[in-house]
Amino acid sequence: MRKEIHQRSQRKNEHVKHAMHQKTGEVLSDFERVTLLHHSLPDLNLDEIDLSTMIADHHVPIPLYINAMTGGSEWTESINRKLAGVAAATGIPMAVGSMHAALRHEELSSSYSIVREVNPDGLIFANVGADVSLEGARRAVEMIDADALQIHINAPQELIMPEGDRDFKSWRANIESIIGHMEVPVIVKEVGFGMSRKALLTLNALGVRHVDISGKGGTNFARIENARRKSGDMSYLGDWGISTVRALLESQSVQSDMSVMASGGISTPLDAVKCLALGARGVGMSRMLLKSVEDAGVDETIGYVDTFQNQMKRIAVMVNAATIEELRKTPLVLDPELLSWMSQRQLVLNEREI
Ligand SMILES: Cc1cc2nc3c(=O)[nH]c(=O)nc-3n(C[C@H](O)[C@H](O)[C@H](O)COP(=O)(O)O)c2cc1C
Repeated sequence: MRKEIHQRSQRKNEHVKHAMHQKTGEVLSDFERVTLLHHSLPDLNLDEIDLSTMIADHHVPIPLYINAMTGGSEWTESINRKLAGVAAATGIPMAVGSMHAALRHEELSSSYSIVREVNPDGLIFANVGADVSLEGARRAVEMIDADALQIHINAPQELIMPEGDRDFKSWRANIESIIGHMEVPVIVKEVGFGMSRKALLTLNALGVRHVDISGKGGTNFARIENARRKSGDMSYLGDWGISTVRALLESQSVQSDMSVMASGGISTPLDAVKCLALGARGVGMSRMLLKSVEDAGVDETIGYVDTFQNQMKRIAVMVNAATIEELRKTPLVLDPELLSWMSQRQLVLNEREI
């Protein structure tokens, strides 16, 4: 039992360490393939820009959230405490990392519930995998008095992880059962491999109303898990997945039925605004905020989030969009690579201004 707790805590620590040291830029994020159209004559006042949105049925003033990462070890409890401090000060929602460790070993629950202690009134999301039962998902939500539940789907990570799962046949039934009975909104999220239109349609048919397409371009779990392997190199899969931009293109036709959120490699306010222009209702960040709280501290990170959201508003003025709804209609230009993807995938951009 002790050994298993140690192994789980160790694995989480390794994920955090690898993620923090992962080189970015090795895999193109695709944000550079999307151009927002400059507007020379904005008819707006920066102070009046309103980027408030709905995330998991909750109204939030800023379309940003801290995405799932940590919990399950002493070190990651301290990270959760810091991230919760940032969430409390900035008012943005925060998801904790996968709670399976605490579902199996109650003594680890404080590494997650610390988030509720630090931020009693904030929006907090629980996080479990799709192999969990309805009962397990309920316990996770209760443990941190969560306002929503994230269910992560991470098949490539499991398959590359030496000790990972190999059987995913329970996933659809579990998701359907949790969606059908859960007392709080449920978000199904990827972990950096993106979602195709087919995956989104499948989720929609299971009753899912909130998704985070979490695409390729940022934290790369194919590379992280490969680095943790002692033998059986699978580094050739380092580029596996659908980028955040391409996944948002894949999501165009389901955006009227589902609330689509974006994460994966968002590193500048411009990236975030491009996600909103491609129809995302909110934008999640993980690695950048993890690095910021660990390397620079809580106060610096609060400043970083404040500046980030303010710069998103400035960019909104540059395209003459006063709200998220207007940003969704803003003209954009895709490069030939993305156009080829859209044509081969038979995707159509939602209606927008020329
Ligand atoms: C250290 C670390 C741990 C993570 N752990 C989880 C997890 O437990 N559950 C989950 O749903 N996603 C997890 N993720 C994935 C993130 O929520 C997100 O989908 C992904 O990192 C892409 O965002 P980014 O490029 O901004 O990091 C983790 C990410 C990082 C960096």
